[in-house]
Amino acid sequence: MTLSFVEEVKSRKTFAIISHPDAGKTTLTEQLLLFGGAIRAAGTVKGKKTGKFATSDWMEIEKQRGISVTSSVMQFEYDGYRVNILDTPGHQDFSEDTYRTLMAVDSAVMIIDSAKGIEDQTIKLFKVCRMRGIPIFTFINKMDRQGKMPLELLAELEEVLGIESYPMNWPIGMGKEFLGIYDRFYNRIEQFRTDESERFLPLDADGGLAVDHPMKESSIYEQALEEVLLLNEAGNEFSRERIADGTLSPVFFGSALTNFGVQTFLETYLQFAPSPQPRKTDDGMVDPASTDFSGFVFKIQANMNPAHRDRIAFIRICSGQFERGMNVTLSRTGKSMKLSQSTQFLADDRSTVNAAVSGDIIGLYDSGTYQIGDTITTGKKTMQFEKLPQFTPELFVKVTAKNVMKQKQFHKGIHQLVQEGAIQLYKTLHTEDYILGAVGQLQFEVFEHRLKNEYNSEVNMESLGSKVARWLEDEKIDDTLSNSRSLLVKDRFDKKLFLFENDFALRWFQDKNPTIKLINPMDLS
Ligand code: G4P
Repeated sequence: MTLSFVEEVKSRKTFAIISHPDAGKTTLTEQLLLFGGAIRAAGTVKGKKTGKFATSDWMEIEKQRGISVTSSVMQFEYDGYRVNILDTPGHQDFSEDTYRTLMAVDSAVMIIDSAKGIEDQTIKLFKVCRMRGIPIFTFINKMDRQGKMPLELLAELEEVLGIESYPMNWPIGMGKEFLGIYDRFYNRIEQFRTDESERFLPLDADGGLAVDHPMKESSIYEQALEEVLLLNEAGNEFSRERIADGTLSPVFFGSALTNFGVQTFLETYLQFAPSPQPRKTDDGMVDPASTDFSGFVFKIQANMNPAHRDRIAFIRICSGQFERGMNVTLSRTGKSMKLSQSTQFLADDRSTVNAAVSGDIIGLYDSGTYQIGDTITTGKKTMQFEKLPQFTPELFVKVTAKNVMKQKQFHKGIHQLVQEGAIQLYKTLHTEDYILGAVGQLQFEVFEHRLKNEYNSEVNMESLGSKVARWLEDEKIDDTLSNSRSLLVKDRFDKKLFLFENDFALRWFQDKNPTIKLINPMDLS
């Protein structure tokens, strides 16, 4: 059956999984892909256990550290839906990349380790989702292990994250005594570790088991029933609208490792997760069902495949349909271009799939045309999608090429990697020395590793420690104000900024020079 364009758009569910490292994101992602028969899986699910997905050498760093450094896109079909999972790096040093990825999704799945509860990284990522008002679905994982009490976990959601929740199902015991989940949504009990024929047990009108079963004798079952009763009486009411506007999080319990509760989660998620939503531009909202093509670049990654030395701009389609060779306008420059050097992301032998439409992610081979945040469109009007969050770097290093004969590779490598957005480049005013800024130390290590492996350029990095970066409202500034405590540099767009040694140096400078207006880009976004 062929779907109409609008039906195609409605069948898209595009989400990211947010969690603290080790909560089980990789495990859950893999289970979901298995359910969907994973039409296409590329980039890296993660180097850790799934070696087959690691596509480039620099992923070694990720493997060694057991963290996910890069984001990628995975797509599968289930029940007539086309699901796009955008992977997000779990390590905090890569949060900037993650934040941008969250701009490209329509909902988020938050995984919580039942023993650890809500952890730091989850809080940060949650806030970004909250800011965007996207629906957040909670999966409380590792129920096969002893963890916190489920009511305690719900209280944490409310107290730590400030979000109300509605448990779609409720665990019956945990750890060694985990019997299954009481499914409030489908009115059944799903048994843990049982034959497929016994997997679901029906409930009667009073909410107890409708069939004779040894579980009925168990005090664990009794306790779960009592808790469900409590939830029915005193818990939040189910509300499709509140799920959709992100103020009520549906909560699921399960165990990704034993593949328990994952399918139920997926099926329920697909019913409530939003299809592609209208997106804001500087010229009003863009309807995903509109036939004019539009999209924005949320990520650029060089050398996904070392054999091809390519660079890929990841585009979230916001309206219309992507066609190879189509003509688009790049809003930033107003220039028209043909997407002939482009290809649909992850296209491979099995890509007999339908065209990419609103909600999908495509990758365009790029030779330096795109910048993060760029809008492309076939519409007559030039418009720009909402700005992506920018983060002010806090750590800085001075970088030089070890081998002066290899300046060319050094410059090329730096400029390409900088364009990916994980690292910022600055230059000192007169000597034009290179200074790199990042949110975390790990980004420098990845940078060094990639420069060596992908550009054959070894570098010296001299740490400048943490600094407070402030841009200038008025570019006309007396250069003699620059000194080691308040160093004047230029960014890659030649805008001047100060790198202050610390907050104290910033305040001192401001006291001495009250007329100079300093800008923190974080305040603007
Ligand atoms: P992440 O991507 O969020 O970092 O987590 P990942 O899926 O890699 O899972 C982290 C660890 O937690 C892994 O164990 C994984 O096997 C385990 N895990 C995931 N889901 C469950 C679950 O439902 N129950 C239990 N008991 N464990 C779970 P590891 O020892 O770090 O990895 P490995 O060395 O066993 O591969």
